[in-house]
Amino acid sequence: MSRREMKPGIYMSPLPVALVSSGSCEDPNACAVAWTGVICSNPPRMYISLTKSRYSHEIISKTRDFVINMVSTDIIRATDTCGVKSGRDMNKFAECGLTAVPSLHVKSPSVAEAPMSIECRVFDVIELGSHDMFLADVVGITADESLFNDQDKLMYGRADLVAYSHGTYVELGKKVGDFGYSVEKKSTRRRKANNRK
Ligand SMILES: Cc1cc2nc3c(=O)[nH]c(=O)nc-3n(C[C@H](O)[C@H](O)[C@H](O)COP(=O)(O)O)c2cc1C
Repeated sequence: MSRREMKPGIYMSPLPVALVSSGSCEDPNACAVAWTGVICSNPPRMYISLTKSRYSHEIISKTRDFVINMVSTDIIRATDTCGVKSGRDMNKFAECGLTAVPSLHVKSPSVAEAPMSIECRVFDVIELGSHDMFLADVVGITADESLFNDQDKLMYGRADLVAYSHGTYVELGKKVGDFGYSVEKKSTRRRKANNRK
């Protein structure tokens, strides 16, 4: 197979798309963020990278907290609007039919319509170039009750989550494996399959 060299750039795919809320319940803002992810499991830490011109950058620099709301197909349209309009010009919650609800551990509101909201407190900001990286501790999480099964197991598949791939929003699709399945013994695989029946 021949391969083509490409100019270094941002080609990583798929990426998450999150709706990052900030401010307060009385004066909330939300913006779409694809430059986000996990940076440490213990303690749980995540990041978002924002351009200085974003209103969210201004707010979060002052309040030092934000909420990463996961995006389902139900709120992808609202998320897109929050990614092309600035909170400097409009109340995006009102405009997009989103509900700001109090978070448990930070001042920034959570988005009621999101399947899961991850409350984050900033511990450092690194200026990288086009974007400043806000590194944060995860200090709280709330998830919609409908995502849990009878054994209280979190069923992500019920959340209709959306990913971002080069300008396109895609709903997460077919399962092709489980963590560690490639090295599992056949007998373990059989037992798991039987348990699922
Ligand atoms: C899918 C998508 C992903 C985005 N990801 C980022 C991002 O990671 N960082 C960023 O600074 N802006 C990102 N943006 C742009 C901001 O969401 C956009 O400029 C928004 O209007 C900022 O709102 P604000 O001024 O109210 O903060 C993204 C936009 C879209 C549509």
